[in-house]
Amino acid sequence: MSAIRPAAVVVLAAGEGTRMKSATPKVLHEICGRSLVGHVLAAARELKPENLVVVVGHAREQVAAHLGEVDPNARTAVQEQQKGTGHAVRMGLDELASGVDGTVVVVCGDTPLLTGGTLRRLAETHHGDGNAVTVLTAEVPDATGYGRIVRDDTGAVTAIVEHKDATAAQREIREINSGVFAFDGQLLADALKKVRTNNSQGEEYLTDVLGILREAGHRVGACVAGDHREIAGINNRVQLSEARRILNDRLLERAMLAGVTVVDPATTWVDVTVTFEQDAVVHPGTQLHGSTHLGEGSEVGPHCRLRDTHVGAGARVDNTVSEGARIGAQASVGPYAYLRPGTRLGVKGKIGTYVETKNAAIGEGTKVPHLSYVGDATIGDHTNIGAASVFVNYDGQEKHHSTIGSHCRTGSDNMFVAPVTVGDGAYTAAGSVITKDVPPGSLAVARGQQRNIEGWVARKRPGSAAAKAAEAASGQGPRED
Ligand code: UD1
Ligand code: MG
Repeated sequence: MSAIRPAAVVVLAAGEGTRMKSATPKVLHEICGRSLVGHVLAAARELKPENLVVVVGHAREQVAAHLGEVDPNARTAVQEQQKGTGHAVRMGLDELASGVDGTVVVVCGDTPLLTGGTLRRLAETHHGDGNAVTVLTAEVPDATGYGRIVRDDTGAVTAIVEHKDATAAQREIREINSGVFAFDGQLLADALKKVRTNNSQGEEYLTDVLGILREAGHRVGACVAGDHREIAGINNRVQLSEARRILNDRLLERAMLAGVTVVDPATTWVDVTVTFEQDAVVHPGTQLHGSTHLGEGSEVGPHCRLRDTHVGAGARVDNTVSEGARIGAQASVGPYAYLRPGTRLGVKGKIGTYVETKNAAIGEGTKVPHLSYVGDATIGDHTNIGAASVFVNYDGQEKHHSTIGSHCRTGSDNMFVAPVTVGDGAYTAAGSVITKDVPPGSLAVARGQQRNIEGWVARKRPGSAAAKAAEAASGQGPRED
């Protein structure tokens, strides 16, 4: 394995990507929770290169800042003007001051479907065949725009001809240059000095290095990708959505083969960072993002959007939006719940319908079943929070915390005005506004006394339907049909 460890991977990401028609540089567009260049870096990292250099140019501050976040060990080389892929690689090699002994792999920053496995196969072919350069190629249904792989009668690669420079006969060729190569570093550096700009675009073509090396008597080889879709470069938003679909399918397929039921792959979207355990079930219309994890036998959906959410084994989450939450084993959430960051729901707990939670630790077996807001609160175990309760956490300037004990039964329509504490085993009456601490085991009643003013309707609304109904109910008059 160490034999195929490249001395460097050079990622080309200096181009503008005008066809994206976007204020965002092309390589920063995202699919499945990662930028295009982030996917390429992840694949490149699988080769464990000694150096990883990204050539940046267009919007380079933005791209470099992003690289600092996703791969702080990647180096950047600046290509001030985009004078072609050969020029870009030259800038990349310049960054590796001492020159490069060993293999240099070149990839483009806009091919997010490329896998580490394919890069490894390219490096292995390169070494196995003792090549000076090995190009990754693929047979594509439509080769328009791509560089064509020209082979001689023996099948040996002789050159790459760009679409714009190709003859009619060469344009018939469907084997294309993916833009991914393995090179002998020294030979590459020497050959790049000989690349000219006498082509239709007036650019230094990296692809010309093949012909130069071949003419100098070096071995030039090719490695054909198993799946041409893997090498597709993204140039516009149609291709962006196609790539997202392919990658998403790939991720779901892997999950299904590992024992996850995905009821409707067409409407289920996942990020590369999402993880599953066996027998998790994902119902239609569900989006799983970030570090979301579905535990064994858990069931999520339909129509859930979970980000950075840990779903415990056997838990059930239905029609829910959640971010930064931890849902305990066999707990139940939704339908129509909104879990915000810092929500912790204990084992067998329940966050029910039209309930919003934030920074709330809700204990084991505790239920918040209906129409409530729980913000900045700690609730013990086996407590029941009555319907339509609000944890009043904000005084207009600061947030405050409330604590409810274990085995409490709080009434419906309670306001817990923070900071306030309800002791273990306490009850509160329906409609209470709890502003003072409630000692353990007490019943708190905090509402106006009810007063009935009898005969008020008959006096104030005589002859009305209400008055007639009241009269009939009190048995004082004949009921009219
Ligand atoms: C290139 C190849 C072509 C291949 C195709 C695969 C050359 C001359 N042509 O064509 O054979 O079939 O990719 O998609 O190499 N870049 C820079 N600096 C530059 C120019 C480009 O960093 O000065 C980067 C771009 O950001 C991009 C990559 O290199 O990531 C490829 O450049 P692009 O202009 O898309 O090349 P193609 O014309 O598509
Ligand atoms: Mg391109």
